Amino acid sequence: MTSVLKISDLHVSVGETPILNGVNMEIRQGEVHALMGPNGSGKSTLAYALAGHPNYNVTAGSIEIDGVNVTAMEADERARLGMFLAFQYPVVIPGVKVADFLRHAVSNVRNPERKEGEGLIGMREFRKEIRERMTELGMDHEFARRYLNDGFSGGEKKRMEILQLAMLQPRFAILDETDSGLDSDAVRVVSEGLAKLAGPLMGVLIITHHKRLLEFNPPQFTHVMLGGRIVEIGDAALAHDLHANGYATVRARHPEAENTKAEAAAVAS
Ligand SMILES: Nc1ncnc2c1ncn2[C@@H]1O[C@H](COP(=O)(O)OP(=O)(O)O)[C@@H](O)[C@H]1O
Ligand SMILES: [Mg+2]
Repeated sequence: MTSVLKISDLHVSVGETPILNGVNMEIRQGEVHALMGPNGSGKSTLAYALAGHPNYNVTAGSIEIDGVNVTAMEADERARLGMFLAFQYPVVIPGVKVADFLRHAVSNVRNPERKEGEGLIGMREFRKEIRERMTELGMDHEFARRYLNDGFSGGEKKRMEILQLAMLQPRFAILDETDSGLDSDAVRVVSEGLAKLAGPLMGVLIITHHKRLLEFNPPQFTHVMLGGRIVEIGDAALAHDLHANGYATVRARHPEAENTKAEAAAVAS
């Protein structure tokens, strides 16, 4: 069975401020979707709401995985159902090595009933697996012995993200790649890594303006967000057009989209 992530009429507020005003989207395993839109249109808000970040309140609508409503679930429960959000700014966890972190994350996802301190995937099995994945991705095995995110360069943070994807094999991967702060090494790591990993079992939502990322991972669907709503859906050609020409024409086609947001903000204040 092909898994489906279904977002229906999703309204999300941060504090009292409505940010998303009815988002609809359906992502199947094996599909690559791009989400584009000008700064402040609500793309990251959607990513956080999907992942179950506690600061993002769903006020209406739903998020379902294979018909199971996950809207009220905690982030880790969603992760166990196959949802993965790559973090833009991963935290530094003092004294935790990449391999230890991944061993816990993999154990949580594969063994949902496990309690802290038990049910960890066996060390030998895990080591073998992580080495294989790192070899496939062309990564230096030393990387697994580094302390998590401690002094990581942009490219290394992205290696971490891709290695996490490879180990967790989520059904739905959401990659929110901000344009600022990604150097060309980092863009290459994500572009090539994702192209290797995204297969028939992974549904991918890429949030980006990076041409290269989408060239390596051509989206079957491009969604354009404006004022907290998806205003247009197209294919890879739409992504190309937005890269080349920006959002002026999209804005002109949907003059109402950003007003709604201003009105909503005015009502809230
Ligand atoms: N944690 C937050 N606190 C307050 N406002 C927020 C927060 N997150 C997002 N917003 C607001 O929501 C709107 C959409 O932001 P965001 O989802 O980050 O857009 P994008 O990722 O498309 O640039 C912006 O107006 C932003 O200021
Ligand atoms: Mg963003």
